[in-house]
Amino acid sequence: MKSFILISLISITTLACTAKQSDRKVASVNALQPAVEQGEVWGGNEAAMMDTVARIFHDTLIESTGDDKIMRRDAHPKHHGCVASELEIFNKNLPEQLRVGLFKENHKYQGIVRFSNGDPNFRKADSEKDVRGMAVKLFGVPYQNYLQDIGVEDGPNRHDFVFMNADSFFIPNPKAYEKFMEATQGRFGVLGYLAFHWGTLGKILKSRVQIANSLDIDYASATPYKLGPTTMKMKFVSCKKVKDAIPERPNHDFLGESLESTLRDQEGCFDFYVQPNKDPKKNNIEDAMISWSEEKSPMIHVGQMKVKQQTGFRSSQRMSACENMTFNPWRAPLENRPVGGVNRIRLEVYLNQSKLRHEYNGL
Ligand code: HEM
Repeated sequence: MKSFILISLISITTLACTAKQSDRKVASVNALQPAVEQGEVWGGNEAAMMDTVARIFHDTLIESTGDDKIMRRDAHPKHHGCVASELEIFNKNLPEQLRVGLFKENHKYQGIVRFSNGDPNFRKADSEKDVRGMAVKLFGVPYQNYLQDIGVEDGPNRHDFVFMNADSFFIPNPKAYEKFMEATQGRFGVLGYLAFHWGTLGKILKSRVQIANSLDIDYASATPYKLGPTTMKMKFVSCKKVKDAIPERPNHDFLGESLESTLRDQEGCFDFYVQPNKDPKKNNIEDAMISWSEEKSPMIHVGQMKVKQQTGFRSSQRMSACENMTFNPWRAPLENRPVGGVNRIRLEVYLNQSKLRHEYNGL
């Protein structure tokens, strides 16, 4: 029971408790990290820390998969469906110098949205408290993303967002992340870390919510990104007019069902905002736990995403296609790339883990 509560607590990202070191090599992309800018600071030993984190992720996923036929994502493994969307960008509210990358042109982009629960245990019922995720993939963007720039991907241009229902992350930087991951392997597990890091515990508890419909809540980048000469956070705010109530006796997968029944009759709607960083001293981009004050750094409305009226996305074929997709916050142009230490770890980890599960699944 104790370990169940622990695993639930740490549902923002992958975190099973007892990974053993495997002999398998973890490919390091440290050399492919972009040059520091916007006040980024690489901590001492950061490359080694990121390698440790990447190795623990790698070993944990292998161990938690065991003999299962499918290796699922470490984090956010349970999805409610991948649905067709359209994001319209309107940049008129942005100052000229911030109209870069995605925000350079006013345009409508077709996309796919994957709604998910954060808990590493994909068997958990939707009615339980959990972190909620929204990953978006835009097609046909008129620029290359960073993964194409560094030659780890080719093919058509794509821009991904990997968002969750919190405006900041639960760990500040790579050093703390390494300690946190190491704690997952230690005698006291994550509790050993949380007992001394109440800020982290508070953030985790706050971001675990019960919801009635994935289209009803807001999703944010949580970590900072570049916006030309400055940095920003991003947010999708639900503009669905009537919010649902949680059913009295919810089915195990009721979030997939509520998504399906809503989109059968109407479209979903999210207003898209960017929050340029007006207070870089306070909003230190190397500390992912900081929530940026909206008073000092106001949100600017830059678009709207419609989740289209549609049916059929919960068929077993479409659900398995959704399982096989991959989203990565570094699929963004250099002008809108992720910044700060937590995002540097994500560059290491997402590529490796996505490759690992795709290879295991024979894709
Ligand atoms: C050091 C920090 C982080 C690490 C190491 C990490 C790790 C991961 C990994 C390994 C995956 C699975 C990737 C795959 O197999 O394709 C994943 C997925 C995901 N992560 Fe993170 N994550 C981190 C931070 C964040 C943050 C800050 C957010 C939210 C803003 C986030 C939200 C998500 C979501 C929504 C997914 C599911 C994406 C999908 O639908 O495919 N993660 N994460």
